[in-house]
Amino acid sequence: MTVTIVGSQLGDEGKGALVDLWGGNADIVVRYQGGDNAGHTVVEDGEEYKLSLVPSGAVRDKTGILGNGCVVNPRTLFDEIDALRERGLDPDVRVARRAHVIMPYHRVLDGIEEEAKSDDDLEAGTTGRGIGPTYEDKVGRRGIRVGDLLDSDVLRDRLEYVVPQKRAVVEEVFGLKAGEEFDIDALHEEYAAVGRRLAEEDMTVNAGDFLGRKLDDGAELLFEGAQGTSIDIDHGIYPYVTSSNPTAGGASTGSGVGPTVIGRGEVVGIVKAYLSRVGTGPLPTELDGDDEDLADYIREKGGEFGTVTGRPRRIGWLDVPMLRHAARASGFTGIAVNHLDVLAGLDEVKVGHAYDLDGERLETMPATTERWAECDPILKEFDPWPEVDWSTVAEDGYDALPANARTYLEYLSDEVGAPIYAVGVGPDRADTVELVDPFA
Ligand code: GDP
Ligand code: IMO
Ligand code: MG
Repeated sequence: MTVTIVGSQLGDEGKGALVDLWGGNADIVVRYQGGDNAGHTVVEDGEEYKLSLVPSGAVRDKTGILGNGCVVNPRTLFDEIDALRERGLDPDVRVARRAHVIMPYHRVLDGIEEEAKSDDDLEAGTTGRGIGPTYEDKVGRRGIRVGDLLDSDVLRDRLEYVVPQKRAVVEEVFGLKAGEEFDIDALHEEYAAVGRRLAEEDMTVNAGDFLGRKLDDGAELLFEGAQGTSIDIDHGIYPYVTSSNPTAGGASTGSGVGPTVIGRGEVVGIVKAYLSRVGTGPLPTELDGDDEDLADYIREKGGEFGTVTGRPRRIGWLDVPMLRHAARASGFTGIAVNHLDVLAGLDEVKVGHAYDLDGERLETMPATTERWAECDPILKEFDPWPEVDWSTVAEDGYDALPANARTYLEYLSDEVGAPIYAVGVGPDRADTVELVDPFA
């Protein structure tokens, strides 16, 4: 069977922590979209791993697959694998031959376009990893796929077609100088060598076929979503989004495993008990202005600084219409709520229960970001819960949680229409209250 983990909000909900927990029961962990814009944290016995590209199951010695829906920067991939080997792990990572390659020029173009958009406040605050430009080339049918790296002649043909176009964009559209990232010979030399290493280490697969055969043999697959629903290219706050589908449909198109198979499994939405946002765009429940001190407190306590870029994350109260939207778009069968410990000890805990948009009450997100920006959250207040010994709570289980925290969780579960599978009360794998093991 399959379990699909999906971010319910704006990314950084603590997906890595749950993938790590439940990955223990999986045979294979599959990333289906995104690339090294993701930053997933796994903490095992105090030892912290920050993974951008290698699926979080690597820490548990599981086979990790980067599916066809991913965009892969081989420099990051090899750096990450090498760093894990230095820490004594031996990650088994396979990359789909249909996945697209992030080339050095994609990163350059990411930076140039963000800069150009900033005059009109349209920049997404990207991670600068070249994600958008790589997906653009994929859809434009001029991308370079992992399989192309394995054949030096095919690679040269692809580069000779695409690189002059990229160079022209830099020089003629933006009036800038194209550097070594646009040198066909240098690119060919580096990326043909990447292809040789991938072949020598037997790292490429026909991912859909590989996963289909594993499923036939009874393997348990865990799909590790990156990013989150509200930064999904289709269902998110366009244009302040990433360029892929973190929602559950992406698990199918991004892996080659059919939607009926994924639909027969579990789809678990990961929820952070408040909001964090790294990047630009509106945020109706943002704690700003008079609430800035509270935002600073939560940011510090929750360690809300970007895993990839180190940027301080913007903080807000939980946005419940956003969660209803996420639960519908992915068909959640359960939710995991993280960071409950971070809200402990506050004087007040609020959520945005619904929106007021020009006098109309909305229970879910409007389809345009401009309208979303005009939404005033209708806040609902909860009695706060105290700071407790969270390790003991994690050991003792759900009933050991403070009563007011349970009220908060049960409200959330009702609103999204899905049961609670787990509650995060700290960063370590052991700091999780597990109610349901989705593989059981
Ligand atoms: P991801 O991108 O969704 O995997 O999340 P990140 O790793 O970017 O950010 C989540 C951060 O919160 C990491 O530093 C985690 O170690 C940490 N974390 C995860 N769950 C919890 C939790 O329940 N409580 C606390 N305090 N931290 C958590
Ligand atoms: P994980 O998997 C939070 C945001 C960026 C920017 C927008 C587009 O750790 O949850 P991109 O570089 O993807 O083109 O940037 O998406 N973003 C994330 N925010 N967590 C992430 O990943 C993110 N990946 C991208 O900040 O607003
Ligand atoms: Mg992250």
